[in-house]
Amino acid sequence: MTHAGSAAELAAGPAAGPAADPATDPLNPAQALATARPLAIDVRGLCKRYGGRAVVDQVDLQVQRGRICGFLGPNGSGKTTTIRMLCGLLTPDAGSGTCLGLDLRAQAAAIKRQVGYMTQKFGLYDDLSIRENLDFVARLFELPNRRVEVDAALARLGLEARQRQLAGTLSGGWKQRLALAACLLHHPQLLLLDEPTAGVDPKARREFWDQIHQLAAEGITVLVSTHYMDEALRCDQLCYIAYGRMLAQGTAAQIIAAAGASDLEDAFVRLVGQAQDNFA
Ligand SMILES: Nc1ncnc2c1ncn2[C@@H]1O[C@H](COP(=O)(O)OP(=O)(O)OP(=O)(O)O)[C@@H](O)[C@H]1O
Ligand SMILES: [Mg+2]
Repeated sequence: MTHAGSAAELAAGPAAGPAADPATDPLNPAQALATARPLAIDVRGLCKRYGGRAVVDQVDLQVQRGRICGFLGPNGSGKTTTIRMLCGLLTPDAGSGTCLGLDLRAQAAAIKRQVGYMTQKFGLYDDLSIRENLDFVARLFELPNRRVEVDAALARLGLEARQRQLAGTLSGGWKQRLALAACLLHHPQLLLLDEPTAGVDPKARREFWDQIHQLAAEGITVLVSTHYMDEALRCDQLCYIAYGRMLAQGTAAQIIAAAGASDLEDAFVRLVGQAQDNFA
């Protein structure tokens, strides 16, 4: 699926008003009293089966608004499938919950309109310029002030000087900036970013993460999948999935301590080793 395709899918539903229930932090109930924020993601028991095989199995996930949650797990562990259920593009076989206070099943169309989804594979149009791609996505979302919104997105991501450049001629880092600009155009309050920095050089990754932190500071919630440990350490909370099962959730320090590990990478290696014994 292309990124423009995902924008089209996300744009294909009615807008809906925001709603949210205050909730506590399931990861740290004691601290939650002082820091409780509404939950942007609150889902329980999510399941998805393909060909009789559970690729997402009883997944629970809670993320408070304005937080950055890193989503880690081996290849094929169910990250993309989970993300697509969260943004309303894939109907779960079981489980329930809310994104941005909207019901995952009954209000999937509204969720699609209110989240920004950056697909794992770059999918904007190579033969359109940066500006043309953004204008196209703005049309899909029927934004009233298209030119103003596109100008603002170009400025925000530092893309102005390259706006006439064809997307197909951009390097990996610039492509990812463009993809982020595209998924911010409709001002989503929840961003679901699927390996946004895979294959991107360290400087571009750092700049991308500075953007993510800036967005979180503005109150936007971010769920971001990654295989990079340095990126995991820049998240407020982490979740780790393998064989479709959520094996750990918490801060990096909590996960390391619970696994009896020396560092995060060691913790994940231990977790996946245990999961292999139990589920493979
Ligand atoms: N539409 C589909 N039909 C059949 N199987 C699928 C489908 N989509 C995903 N799968 C399978 O579900 C499992 C989980 O896939 P998913 O893409 O969610 O993993 P992932 O954690 O995102 O992996 P990666 O890190 O490689 O991106 C894989 O075994 C994959 O082959
Ligand atoms: Mg994936």
